[in-house]
Amino acid sequence: MTSSAEFFSAPIGATDPVVAEALDAETVRQAGQIELIASENLVSRAVLDAMGHIIANKTLEGYPGNRFHGGGENVDTIEQLAIDRATELFGCAYANVQPHSGTQANLAAFLRLVEPGDRLLSLDLAAGGHLSHGARANLSGRWFETHNYTVDRDTGLIDYDAVERQAKEVRPHLLIAGGSAYPREIDFKRMADIAREVDARFLTDMAHIAGLVAGGVHPSPIPHADIVTCTTTKTLRGPRGGVILARDETWARKLQSAVFPGAQGSLHTQILAGKAVCLGEALKPEFKAYARRIRNNARVLARVLIEHGIKVISGGTDTHIVLLDLRTTGINGQQAQDALARAGITSNKNPIPFDSPKPAEWAGLRLGVSAATTRGFMEPEFEALGAMIAELIAAEARGNSASAAAEAGARVKDLCERFAIYR
Ligand SMILES: Cc1ncc(COP(=O)(O)O)c(C=O)c1O
Repeated sequence: MTSSAEFFSAPIGATDPVVAEALDAETVRQAGQIELIASENLVSRAVLDAMGHIIANKTLEGYPGNRFHGGGENVDTIEQLAIDRATELFGCAYANVQPHSGTQANLAAFLRLVEPGDRLLSLDLAAGGHLSHGARANLSGRWFETHNYTVDRDTGLIDYDAVERQAKEVRPHLLIAGGSAYPREIDFKRMADIAREVDARFLTDMAHIAGLVAGGVHPSPIPHADIVTCTTTKTLRGPRGGVILARDETWARKLQSAVFPGAQGSLHTQILAGKAVCLGEALKPEFKAYARRIRNNARVLARVLIEHGIKVISGGTDTHIVLLDLRTTGINGQQAQDALARAGITSNKNPIPFDSPKPAEWAGLRLGVSAATTRGFMEPEFEALGAMIAELIAAEARGNSASAAAEAGARVKDLCERFAIYR
């Protein structure tokens, strides 16, 4: 039997070698591949320290100063810090840092903004929307009647006049902006004007772009939306979790009870600590430089791919996302994802606007530059990466992917060694 001393001190490798082995393999995987999944990033050692802290042992419900359990004073300090940092960072009056995920943040917001059976108007999934915005497979799709707006077939951009026309027809109770694969700036003011015109409430989900908004390289939805939700993952470079923000106190009391006890129980205290750390990092001047590098790197990647004959949805990007339209290459998203993976580049197949609903047929590949930017990649590395990706796609289409993968794989290895992580 394990002694108490061993229980508190033995490392995982000694007590659970099977899990330890998988964790070690993951360390090796992350170090040796180039991460281009747009929803991923690499968090700081400080965020990892917070997430691995024994504060995880603490059970708490409620809010700072008003808890259901004793012993919450240190978590109170941390949660209040996270709230203060979030409101300062995004220039808003209200922040709730408890949602366990972006999806839960949205569900809590829905709990207060709409009633079951109400109409939602949100971005179509194939045009870059998100499942939690009323997709049939999500709870939101069961509770609400969802209508989707989409992008212009030629430009790939949201056609705000069309959204306005549709809003006048549908008369939604809630208009939602934001998504997971829309690579361009969103005109939040125009969306708010449309919502006002049809008496709808307006929610923006800035999960993907929160770090770009925090870093000042993307307009903020805060002045325009009734409620803003986001994740601390992705460009904000923090732990896996959600946040709800509001520019003023109008919704504050209702949102507090929507998150707890409306949609959640106790806190994930270690994640809360990670959120406080990442929000503190985002307030530092170097975060602005990181956000600028993300935007520049994404533009470089899009330009190089276009120069190599690959179509990019909307002809470029204003964010960290570059969405490839592979229809003219002869391969689909899954084949491209696999071809890149064989060279050590991780990405994901994605629908493009008006694509098939079947993932196996999707013609898109979504790339995101956040993690590689955090790793230190600059313009020359993204120039090289763009050329490599184009060659891997071309080789896959020609049927000689093995030699292309070997050649690109050696260059990926070299880049990963030059830009090492978590040493
Ligand atoms: C726009 C948007 N909202 C919500 C989410 C959901 O976040 P989570 O995975 O934390 O539930 C995502 C995740 O990719 C997203 O892109």
